Amino acid sequence: MAVLLSLGDTALASALRQSTIAYPLVSSAHILGLGLLIGAVVTLDLRLLGAIRRGTLSELAPLMSRLAAAGLLLALVTGPLLFSVQPAHYLDNRAFLLKVIFISLGLLNVLVVHQLPHWKAVLAGQPVAPILKLNASLSLALWLAVLLSGRWIAFV
Ligand code: HEM
Repeated sequence: MAVLLSLGDTALASALRQSTIAYPLVSSAHILGLGLLIGAVVTLDLRLLGAIRRGTLSELAPLMSRLAAAGLLLALVTGPLLFSVQPAHYLDNRAFLLKVIFISLGLLNVLVVHQLPHWKAVLAGQPVAPILKLNASLSLALWLAVLLSGRWIAFV
């Protein structure tokens, strides 16, 4: 907790607080990150669930996974910068805490899927196994929950 609160005392945090352009730039990059991440995740999950039928998964899955990874990286770099502007406020914000829980569960779900032989089978052009459809449904719910709880932060 003390380490998280001390993020607010860094030179970077005070620069973000004082500059009229730096915070909007970082916040925009955060939104770009979540847009790439959630856009790619929703597209891939709907394809795995069969709601989207066009495009082979052996082509789409690696492409969407890389886009999602790029978005995640951008969100994970810019998120702590936004957090550092007022760490005590965010640590006391239940929407923020919920978002961190949903992000952790979303990442755990991704790690599990990528270990499954069924995922490798799909990359090799095999049909989508029921367990992957279950993971895709869970992924959709978790990342949309991240989006909602992220937006809710400003209203709590
Ligand atoms: C990994 C995926 C992430 C996603 C999908 C995500 C999503 C979001 C969303 C939807 C918003 C609201 C944007 C807005 O309305 O301006 C937001 C804002 C924010 N996020 Fe994230 N975020 C992620 C990671 C993080 C991380 C790791 C942190 C900090 C450790 C973080 C800290 C923040 C903060 C401080 C705000 C500003 C809240 C406010 O004052 O309005 N985010 N995020």
